[in-house]
Amino acid sequence: MRSIAALLLLLTAASLPAQDTSCQALFTRTGFTQRTSLPIGNCGDCHSGSTQSPRVAARLGNPGGSKWIRGDEILIWLGETSVADASQTPAPRDLSAVDRHAQAWTSLRSTTAEQMGVVLGKPGQLHRDRACLACHTSLPVYNLECESDGLISAALESDVRLTSGVSCEGCHGTSGDAATQGADLPNGWGTAHFALRNWRNMPPDEKCRHGYLDVRSVASRTKICVSCHVGNAELGRVVTHEMYAAGHPPLPPFELQTFEQQMPKHWREYHEKPELLRQEFEAATGLKPADPAEQQARELLVSALITWSESMKLTADLAEQKAPQELVRSEWPEFAQFDCYACHHDLRHDGWRQQAQIKGHPGRPRLIPWPATLAELAWNVTSSTPEAAATPGIGFAEVRQATVSTPFGDTRELIKAARAAAASAEQIASRLETSTLTPQQQQAVTAGLLNAGTAATVDYDSARQIAWSWLLLNSATADEQQKLFPQLFLQLHQGRAESDPIPGSNETVTVIRIDPALSLPPIAGYDPQSFRAAFETIRKSQSE
Ligand code: HEC
Ligand code: HEC
Ligand code: HEC
Ligand code: HEC
Ligand code: HEC
Repeated sequence: MRSIAALLLLLTAASLPAQDTSCQALFTRTGFTQRTSLPIGNCGDCHSGSTQSPRVAARLGNPGGSKWIRGDEILIWLGETSVADASQTPAPRDLSAVDRHAQAWTSLRSTTAEQMGVVLGKPGQLHRDRACLACHTSLPVYNLECESDGLISAALESDVRLTSGVSCEGCHGTSGDAATQGADLPNGWGTAHFALRNWRNMPPDEKCRHGYLDVRSVASRTKICVSCHVGNAELGRVVTHEMYAAGHPPLPPFELQTFEQQMPKHWREYHEKPELLRQEFEAATGLKPADPAEQQARELLVSALITWSESMKLTADLAEQKAPQELVRSEWPEFAQFDCYACHHDLRHDGWRQQAQIKGHPGRPRLIPWPATLAELAWNVTSSTPEAAATPGIGFAEVRQATVSTPFGDTRELIKAARAAAASAEQIASRLETSTLTPQQQQAVTAGLLNAGTAATVDYDSARQIAWSWLLLNSATADEQQKLFPQLFLQLHQGRAESDPIPGSNETVTVIRIDPALSLPPIAGYDPQSFRAAFETIRKSQSE
């Protein structure tokens, strides 16, 4: 017979709302906050290279020196090399290979952030402001304890989960057990992923039940990155115009594979993994690897569609004032959603903007244009017939019309159009992710980029996306990139060296900060004609 206590426990468990642990739910407020965070120190035993117990080596598939994962991910993320014993001095950091995610929190104490604090009326406090921490740490900010001034409690300032910035959990998911006692959740992936024998071959949905974000799927990976690199209102991640005006660097346009190339890679691509382990994996999961060129082209399209979809969701959420008030100070029209350079450019005699016939309505700001650029290409390639390609497709025309029908748009129509665009783009992306591009479609991607580069007058950020995509599909080196597009700032990780204190120690470390003196002048000096000329040259060399 069950004891009363056990019965009561059963009753409370039964009355708790059922937890939605699907992959999709991890991007909602409840999903995002349901687990506790583990400090990165918990991962060090197995992911910092030097110390590997025989058991771990065996689990890595490493007895003969072949590995499924690298095992030194933390070192790469920190930009440090391994030493055999503590008395040795590690080699100097390779500053060309700094992962900026590791410095994301100390950036909130940088000179730029100090200046922002003064303008925003919170001098020296932004490293405790959840509006910033939402993207500059891995933590679900809703859960952070606050003081009466709305800033997180000073005691947290030295907590490594904060000071480690955007650490492993920022992209791989919060890894601890349930944040609420008694919540009916499977244990966190932080322990499950090495304790469960079949973890590697588990379907993504099952890993998500443990809180693990699916980084293998392109659609899901894009969602993870753009939640910070574009924004996600539900997770409290929004760069507002107020922040920009105070000095936040303009967020560059996002292109998944380019951004991945520009962060030091701490993983092995599938084809780089040992063949024996791949065979085991394929036998267990039934998955088949794709042709690398086809996969690259398809990833370009899928991530473009998801980026468009997520940016439409953000616009709709902000227009509907759905962002959590306690985290995000934003009013509609939120200027940060509109084309920055519609408002921020000099009046020029004979300026290119007047001649550009920017689609829309003269004198009314459109939304930030770049998210539509590659999505339009994706739509053109995937809607198979020429007739379909000529239709408005995934909401471009509707969104544009709703944005310029009145100054700053007809809010109700815009919300409707943006939500519809987001939903259909996501649907097409998920279909595309599990299909294969035909050789004709692959050619259409290349042709579409050439057209985009030569046909229309494109804005600076769209030009960067078109250039990045072209360079990606043609495996161009950094030197070649510079030669082809000297007018564009393409190497995002370039910047100026600064010395950061290492939190919790007296030592400092050199980091590379964003330098507006490098990134902003090309915007002001941008001339669409020379960009077009660069692509004309490419086209000519292609047809030779
Ligand atoms: C006891 C050793 C151990 C610890 C501690 C550990 N890991 Fe792992 N981790 C592994 C092993 C082994 C694998 C490879 C699993 C496989 O072969 O598929 C792995 C794989 C991973 C992966 C890839 C998972 C996947 O599904 O592809 C991530 C991400 C990861 N670990 C992050 C972390 C983080 C973050 C922490 C700390 C919260 C952590 N690990 C702690 C041993 C460990
Ligand atoms: C939790 C938020 C967050 C997530 C998720 C995230 N990033 Fe970042 N990322 C940042 C922040 C913040 C910076 C700037 C850090 C700094 O310099 O202080 C950054 C910087 C970068 C940079 C350096 C480029 C530059 O201009 O500074 C690259 C490249 C990058 N991220 C790629 C990615 C990719 C690829 C993904 C997805 C796999 C991703 N990020 C996911 C927050 C995030
Ligand atoms: C929506 C996510 C998001 C929010 C919210 C956000 N940031 Fe950022 N921040 C980023 C990203 C992404 C970058 C990198 C920009 C790039 O790639 O060029 C960045 C870069 C920076 C940098 C430059 C870092 C460097 O290495 O030079 C500073 C400083 C900064 N942010 C401060 C802040 C402050 C202060 C706040 C709050 C008022 C804030 N950020 C809010 C995403 C965000
Ligand atoms: C900015 C986002 C980001 C951060 C931060 C991050 N990762 Fe990753 N991680 C990725 C991406 C993207 C992949 C590659 C996914 C793919 O293409 O399969 C990856 C892959 C991995 C893999 C290999 C998985 C496999 O099956 O091959 C491991 C292990 C891993 N990460 C561990 C870590 C650890 C440990 C940390 C913290 C030091 C960390 N990651 C921080 C984005 C991130
Ligand atoms: C609808 C017009 C409009 C749009 C769109 C807009 N801004 Fe602004 N912005 C303004 C106004 C008005 C000011 C205040 C000007 C002043 O203080 O003189 C301002 C101020 C600024 C400032 C500080 C003053 C300066 O010129 O340096 C920055 C930086 C800034 N905005 C960046 C951005 C960025 C980045 C975007 C796009 C993400 C953007 N703005 C979009 C109208 C706009």
